[in-house]
This record gives sequence, C-alpha cells and structure tokens, in this order.
Amino acid sequence: NHPYEVNEQGHLEIGGIDTVNLAEKYGTPLYIYDVKTIRDNCRAFVRTFEELDIKAQVAYASKAFSSIAMVQIAKQEGLSLDVVSEGELYTAFQAGFPKEKIHLHGNNKSIEELSMAIEHDIGCIVVDNFLEIEMIGRLLEKYGKNMDVLMRVTPGIESKTHKYIMTGNEDSKFGFNLQNGQAEEAFHMLYKHPSINFKGLHCHIGSQIFETEGFLLAAEVLFKQIAVWNDKYGFIPEVLNLGGGFGIRYTGEDTPLPLNKYAEKLGAAVADFAADLEIPMPEIWIEPGRAIVGNAGITLYSIGSMKNIPGVRDYISVNGGMTDNLRPALYQAKYEAVIANKANQEPSKQASIAGKCCESGDMLIKDLPLPEAETGDILAVFSTGAYGYSMANHYNRIPKAAVVFVEDGQDKLVVQRESYEDVVKNDLSYE
Ligand code: LLP
Repeated sequence: NHPYEVNEQGHLEIGGIDTVNLAEKYGTPLYIYDVKTIRDNCRAFVRTFEELDIKAQVAYASKAFSSIAMVQIAKQEGLSLDVVSEGELYTAFQAGFPKEKIHLHGNNKSIEELSMAIEHDIGCIVVDNFLEIEMIGRLLEKYGKNMDVLMRVTPGIESKTHKYIMTGNEDSKFGFNLQNGQAEEAFHMLYKHPSINFKGLHCHIGSQIFETEGFLLAAEVLFKQIAVWNDKYGFIPEVLNLGGGFGIRYTGEDTPLPLNKYAEKLGAAVADFAADLEIPMPEIWIEPGRAIVGNAGITLYSIGSMKNIPGVRDYISVNGGMTDNLRPALYQAKYEAVIANKANQEPSKQASIAGKCCESGDMLIKDLPLPEAETGDILAVFSTGAYGYSMANHYNRIPKAAVVFVEDGQDKLVVQRESYEDVVKNDLSYE
C-alpha cells in the first residue's frame, strides 16, 4: 500500500531508480527523497491560492527537514521559509534563499538570532513574548532599521486526536494569550511602534491535523480579536498566518485531505470574515512542514540479526533506528515498510522492526507484515521525510545517515554520511 513502482526484479523504485542499487551505492541507513513529490506538494498549496486569486505566502517550515538542497528546492518553488533558530537561518543563507522571504519563529529567540535576522533584513519576525519585543525595539534602534512583525497568539484551540476543543485558559509556551489581556498589552507595544511594522497575527494550532475545522475555528477566533482592535483603534491586519500542521498519511489509519482542500477552505473562510468586518482581505500565510516533505522521503536500512521468541514475537533488527527516526520512540508514531528487494512478494508473516540502539524502546515498527526476511535484505520505511533527519541524533555515537535526492531518473547525494571522525571531531583529549 504505497505509491512506488516495483521493477521487474521485484525491487522497489523511487523516482524511477532502483532502491536496492541506491543502498549499494550510498550505503544504509539512507534517507531518499523523491524531489517530484516535494515539488508537487509545494505546488498544490501555491496553485490553489493562485487559482482562487487569493494573496498568500506558503512558507516551508524548515524544521521538518532543513538542508541546503532542501531549502534550494523551496526557493525554486517560490515558497517562503519558516526558520526557528540561528542554525536554520544560517542554512537558509548558505542555500541562497531570498532573505526577504524568511520568517523567524521561536519562543526564546536570543539576541544573536534577532541581530542576525535584523542585520540581514529578513522578511518578518513572528514575535512571541514581551522580552522579544523589547530586544527587537533596541536592535532596530541600534541598526537604524525597520522590521515587519507578526504577533503569535494562542487562540485557545487545542487539537486533540483530530477533534478541536476550545480551552478557556490555554496553557502553551508559545505566543501571547488572547483571553488574559497579554495580547492586548503586546498590541499596544507593537501598533504604532516607530520602527516595527506590525503586519498581523499568527497562530499554530497543532500538527498532523486531518480536517479544516480547527483552522477555520482559529481564523474565527483571530478575527474576533481583530474586530475589537479594528473597532477601538482602526487596526487593519495585512497578514493572517494560520501556521502549519496539515496532516499526511503514515499508515492506513491516517486520512489526510488533499492539500488543495486546506488552501481552498481557508481562503474562503478568511474572505468571508474580512467581508463581514468590511476590511480588505488580509494576505493568508501558512507554514506547512510535514505536508511538503513527509511523504516524499523513505529510509532504507539493512536487515541484520533476527530473533524468534516462540509464541511471542519475531524481531528483525536494522542498522539504524531512533538515531535516524526518533518519532516511534518519542510519539509512538506508526510507519509502513516493505523489503525493498522483495517488494513483489506477498507478506507471509509478521515481525517487529528493532533499531540497533541500546534501548528497549528503540523499535521502529510493531508487527509489520512481511515476506520471509533474510540478513542482508533492504528494508524501506515509507513517509520518513519529515522530522526524521531533522531530529536525528548521535545516541550510541552512531554517525548521521546520508541523504540522497532522486529526480528525473537521476540520484544525487545532498547530505554526506557522517564519518567516525565527524562523531569525535569536537572531543578534546584529557591526557
Ligand atoms: N509552524 C509552527 C509555528 C510550528 O510550530 C510548526 C511545527 C509548523 C509550522 C510545522 O508543522 P507541520 O506542518 O510540519 O506539522 N517533531 C514533531 C512535529 C513538531 C512540530 C512542531 N511545530 C513530529 O515529528 O511529528
């Protein structure tokens, strides 16, 4: 149950290339991205807004997968870029991403991060807290510059297992609270600030969301606040940023909407709210991360040791795990996989896929239906494109895996595999 081709040898293909050959050429574990899928995902959002004649910015949330090559694809597709740290900002600069289309996020931006953003005239800072407003003000004065700013608010909507509940008293480390007067106080600091161009509001209601309802509810809450500020102070927002969180399919349990549906529904709702208020339609900004790269990536592993506990379970160990994909251990996230060199064979048994880290919780997939597996087979895990490489770590001093892009029948290494020298390169001797 996957979108990939299987060739005559029974091997899984991605982007027209035999994955078994890629495993041989680059080694395993290996992240592979089908660039066409990334581009299609970018275009699904951008085109829908264009077709509806709605002014919008689609910012790729680079936390999902940041690398120079990936940021360059976002640039080629005309997206904006959401970064949340100096490291992601630095990557964007190295990729030659247009600075005016970069948005900086974060609930604890450092003075260095803010200086870097202001010095380089990035497009927008999404302010999160009072300390930050004060630091931005000081820096703008020092540099004699202006900066576009959005205010991040917590709309009091929580996405819980695909249902949305309104919480009277929201509890989040991000943004200004709408109910308790903090957003009002921040509004007064930002509106009419001599060097801050206060463009509008931002919110992000959660991740891996399969309905439009929560986004529409968030837009409604934001417009209620805008109505108050419009009435009292004549405030007209130029931008409404509704964040990311558009869900994807990992397994058959997931039921995502086509990406254009989100854009369509959001566009229509914001147009209605603006018309009700008799203000011009603000630009809609969104920040998809997972929906851009999640389904475009797979991970290849080599199968090593196997263990059968009679009457209990079969374990198949692979040469990666929570170091290259933390999501199963961290969120009990589920994935589907096939044996890439036996992709034409029907499953005949079930086995649980174990990582190689020294930790019982390092399990990638529970009870996966598979054909008979042998040591040396290549396991391909699907939909690992988001928050896989970006949350990779060095537990057990395992070097980070390589990343390969495939497009038009060509493969290209875009992140090198780390070496053991890389692993110890910051270590200093104590003798
Ligand atoms: N915008 C903001 C302000 C965010 O906080 C996030 C995600 C996004 C956009 C992008 O969300 P996406 O479209 O990718 O769902 N590590 C977790 C996900 C954490 C998401 C944090 N913020 C995971 O592996 O599922």
